[in-house]
Amino acid sequence: MQSMLWQNGALVLLDQTKLPLQEEYIECRDYRRVAEAIRRLEVRGAPAIGAAAAYGLVLGAAEILRNQADLAEELPAVADELKATRPTAVNLFWAIERMMQVFENLQQAVSAPEIVAKLEAAAIEISDKDKQVNESIARHGATLFTNPVSILTHCNAGALATVAVGTALGVIERAWREGNVSEVFADETRPLLQGARLTAVELSQAGIPVTLITDNMAAWVMKTGKVQAIIVGADRIAANGDVANKIGTYGLSVLAAEHGIPFYVAAPLSTFDFMLASGAGIPIEERNPEEVFQFAGVRSAPYGIKAFNPAFDVTPADKVTAIITEAGVIRAPYKEAIQQLAQKMKEETK
Ligand code: MRU
Repeated sequence: MQSMLWQNGALVLLDQTKLPLQEEYIECRDYRRVAEAIRRLEVRGAPAIGAAAAYGLVLGAAEILRNQADLAEELPAVADELKATRPTAVNLFWAIERMMQVFENLQQAVSAPEIVAKLEAAAIEISDKDKQVNESIARHGATLFTNPVSILTHCNAGALATVAVGTALGVIERAWREGNVSEVFADETRPLLQGARLTAVELSQAGIPVTLITDNMAAWVMKTGKVQAIIVGADRIAANGDVANKIGTYGLSVLAAEHGIPFYVAAPLSTFDFMLASGAGIPIEERNPEEVFQFAGVRSAPYGIKAFNPAFDVTPADKVTAIITEAGVIRAPYKEAIQQLAQKMKEETK
């Protein structure tokens, strides 16, 4: 399953809200439809959101060109609309800022049609690079496992959450191919069930033994010695190593510490917010309470009550055993290690 394809000037997205029962695709020829798909989680997962938004910006630029309007005047509003879709995953802002940088560097030098062509090339590069980066994450992450272990994961950090390969699931798949994963426990991940609907599908399609649990079973699974490691993805990592990821991740990290189980985070450098001192500054998306009132689209709570629906939480750096990136595996003290990654990223984008 491929989360997205750029085909004949359109972004084709696999509608992840319909999985696993239906495999339907959405053809986006308009950046507004891309923004809607991000908001509705038809495309989701931090790296996938970034790549989709980059293509969204290309669609916006092409529309401005068709309307014979001024790119410099109108493109920033397209960027702003795409940025306003979801607040937590920093990959979204990283990708759009990168695209806008390409635009600003070109503006004076070339014609409007050439600018649109260069923006298209830049979006393709972001999406192609995602695959290479995730392969490197998988390679580095797999070195952490030298004998067969059972791993627990949360939400979906697989190929569907990226352009290809995945982050946490990329590591798991590679370690499994090397004979070092015996089975995977997938948290269902309330309220939108990314673990049950997406992770369980990806793992079983890869032939990896997967056992689904509801989120409230994780503590008991750890207590009874059923897992020896936890690997999750990330939506934003602050400069001190605090990690924002799907709601429920923080709880898993506390449980992992209690049970002496290593807690790993797998993420590309584009998920680091190098300028943000700590996780306290990470904006946490709050979604519609309706998602909590329902289970798989069926009302499961009484009317007339309130619900709280934060989509992410922040795991403090001291609960993170290691962070797996394309540049290698880093451990505490995170501040220094992350500063070095920032330097590396700066050099690469020069
Ligand atoms: O709300 P979602 O489904 O976009 O949340 C996704 C996650 O929390 C993932 O774990 C994270 O984006 C890492 S994806 C490689």
